[in-house]
Amino acid sequence: MLAADETLFRSQDVFDPDYTPEQFEFRDAQLREMSFCLKPGLKKGRPSSALLIGQPATGKTTSAKLVFQQLKETSSAIIPVYINCHLQSSAYKIFSEIRRKVLGMPPPDSGVPLAKIQDEVFVELAKKKKSLVVCLDEINYLLPEGVADEILYIILRAHEVYPGSKTAVFAIATEDIMHTFSDKVRSTFSPVRIEFKPYSGQETLEILKGRRDAGLYPDVLSDALLEQIADSASDLRHAIELMKQSALAAESDASKKILPKHVEKAEKSIHPSEASSDSMVILTLIREKKSMESGELFEQIKHSLGISYTTFYRMLRRLEAGGFIEIESVAAKDGKGRSSRIRAK
Ligand SMILES: Nc1ncnc2c1ncn2[C@@H]1O[C@H](COP(=O)(O)OP(=O)(O)O)[C@@H](O)[C@H]1O
Ligand SMILES: [Mg+2]
Repeated sequence: MLAADETLFRSQDVFDPDYTPEQFEFRDAQLREMSFCLKPGLKKGRPSSALLIGQPATGKTTSAKLVFQQLKETSSAIIPVYINCHLQSSAYKIFSEIRRKVLGMPPPDSGVPLAKIQDEVFVELAKKKKSLVVCLDEINYLLPEGVADEILYIILRAHEVYPGSKTAVFAIATEDIMHTFSDKVRSTFSPVRIEFKPYSGQETLEILKGRRDAGLYPDVLSDALLEQIADSASDLRHAIELMKQSALAAESDASKKILPKHVEKAEKSIHPSEASSDSMVILTLIREKKSMESGELFEQIKHSLGISYTTFYRMLRRLEAGGFIEIESVAAKDGKGRSSRIRAK
């Protein structure tokens, strides 16, 4: 039994979404490319812009933050500014943040026009003889209203209004977004493309083991259960969250170890809105028809979702674990073998 004042966590922060892991493997090539883009800026040249592309949870944000951290420790020639465009999605908010980093403080109040903030930023940069690199993470949030075009244009054309300005942008997106920019922007923004391929199953497991060892006490979570978590999770971020929720479930059960029932409980705590969008498409179809055979359902979605039967079936299992559907084994319609009947709950 786990005493009331005991915990399974060596450190709970290790499972936070914005935790920077001490061990960060498999991304050396990308980190090197990013450092290479910054290099000219260290020698009074102009840093290069980059576009970091990859599926969610492939280490893009962590890589950008690590490179900026390293830069801050080694040189003051470049001022790096990291922006999450989901949280700061207007040109005003973004420039206020840039001003905060360049001048050491945000604008005095919201009545200051954007043009004045820009002016202060670029005049200060010229005075300090420094370059500016702005990372626009999740830049897709800026696309709909044309804010991305506006921001990129202001930052990358600064040298026309303020001669000698040296600026670059690191944009982060899940897909190639170059076609969404105006011609005006595309003629100034020609980033180095840096790709973040999904981790292999083996790499994912290694990363998860590192996270487990840093966050939980020894023997709390077995390799076998960790593999089960990795299999049932939609991606690395989800797996890390499942690990944390499983440990919390074990703690509330006063168990010294995470058991399969705790992992199941953690899987159930996931709300459908947090499930992957592919799973939601499948769930919506099942809810419309109330009840379907798995083969029939797969035929309907396989082309639009482009997934294999194995992936499809794993999603069904996850929806079942989440309590959204019931899967029942029935005799197949053609009389040969068995099939699964799926019912919405
Ligand atoms: N190579 C890695 N080593 C250790 N942890 C990683 C690695 N790649 C990603 N992670 C972890 O996975 C989660 C998602 O990574 P993140 O950088 O936010 O991905 P992205 O920005 O591509 O969605 C974070 O918790 C991060 O610490
Ligand atoms: Mg990210």
